[in-house]
Amino acid sequence: MNRDMSPDEFREHAHKAVDWIADYLRDIRQYPVVPNVEPGDLIAALPTSGPEQGEPMDRIFADFQRQILPAVTHWNHPNFHAYFAISASGPGILAEMLMTALDINGMLWKSSPAATELEQVTLDWLRQWLGLPDKQFGIIYDTASISTMHAIAAARERADPRCRTEGSTPNLVMYCSEHAHSSNEKGAISIGVGKNNVRKVPMDLEFRMRADVLRQMVEQDVAAGKKPFCVVSAIGTTATTACDPTAEIAQIAKEYGMWLHVDAAYAGPAAICEEFRPLFDGWELADSIVVNPHKWFATPVDLSVFYTRHPDILRRAYSLVPDYLVTAEDSKVVNHMDYGVQLGRRFRALKLWFVMRYFGRDTLAAMIRDHCQWAREIGDRALLDGRFEIGAPIPFSLVCLRLKGPDEKTFALIDHVNRSGKAFLSPTALNGKTYFRLAIGNIKTTREDIENTWNTILQAANL
Ligand SMILES: Cc1ncc(COP(=O)(O)O)c(C=O)c1O
Repeated sequence: MNRDMSPDEFREHAHKAVDWIADYLRDIRQYPVVPNVEPGDLIAALPTSGPEQGEPMDRIFADFQRQILPAVTHWNHPNFHAYFAISASGPGILAEMLMTALDINGMLWKSSPAATELEQVTLDWLRQWLGLPDKQFGIIYDTASISTMHAIAAARERADPRCRTEGSTPNLVMYCSEHAHSSNEKGAISIGVGKNNVRKVPMDLEFRMRADVLRQMVEQDVAAGKKPFCVVSAIGTTATTACDPTAEIAQIAKEYGMWLHVDAAYAGPAAICEEFRPLFDGWELADSIVVNPHKWFATPVDLSVFYTRHPDILRRAYSLVPDYLVTAEDSKVVNHMDYGVQLGRRFRALKLWFVMRYFGRDTLAAMIRDHCQWAREIGDRALLDGRFEIGAPIPFSLVCLRLKGPDEKTFALIDHVNRSGKAFLSPTALNGKTYFRLAIGNIKTTREDIENTWNTILQAANL
């Protein structure tokens, strides 16, 4: 007895769903970017327990449109400019559909050779596009937070291999800038290094880590009997997309035997364009790097790429093979379960392969160049307008602006724009003042969309 939906019924509903998706992508600008709901609205609208008997798909789908959609924030909207703008592109969506139908669990080569080998091939293509040297081992995790946690675990394994069996030693310390992403501290918390052992290195006037102060802090820690074991250099910080001086940091890491992890979660894809490479100077010396195709590479959430020159150390940190997972091919293949916490894993490489093949490097590079150009243009317009202050340089596709005067004016502007449904901006604090972040990153965004967002901002500024 087949309890699943029949293939014919599936075909009927799949066609409807695909038609709906195609219409959604075509008409996406008609949706408010930010939903007009209050906390708890959706919970109150839904039944408090699940149905005993199954329901017809048409009814479920109708409720998706009637109840769920009005509470959705449209991340795939071309005027989504909060946090870092992202995009589920056509090829990425198609690959997600196929991945889900296959429902592969790529824990081992044996559990699906395609998942393991396509991941190896795709990440090597990406490595070449990014201009990284040979000898990088690549693996896909879900998010940059998890990639960075694995970097910290590998760093700890190298610094103090006893930790794997005995637990963390209390004297390990790691470093990142004051603007480094919170995932660094969360990684340290997760693997038992502890939040207090994450040193925040001060920044220069352009929000880049001060390598001279890093050196002093490391020296002080060594003198105090601590063991510096890891430093994180951000290429594209979350607040302003500033780039830490990775080459200088790499030199200090080398002198003190620290693992260098580069967080290029957002900005990494820009390295496919030669002209951005100087900002990445030194990342080729890193022990590990994270780049998120699910941020600025037209790939649907989630897909984070982790490269390391020391797969042996990562493997030492994590490999633990129960009898039921031993296979005859183990000595000849990569088993991804050996390189991280998780056993089960999705066939994410398929969507990166679809995206890279469908667009090619040229189109993705053109997208990145356009986004950066439009961000600079917004910066120029804001300066010409006279009412705005720019918070930071614009190396990539993020602009940080505020209205001159008290913070309340900027908060009111953000609120007005977001309530209009026409765009979504998010705040950040720089040097004690509030700015709004306008991030450009969706592959569907056009110059006209940016023009519209800017007009919405001007209307809010006029109030
Ligand atoms: C620089 C940087 N690193 C890490 C992260 C965390 O990314 P994820 O959501 O993939 O964990 C972010 C998120 O925006 C980020 O901007």
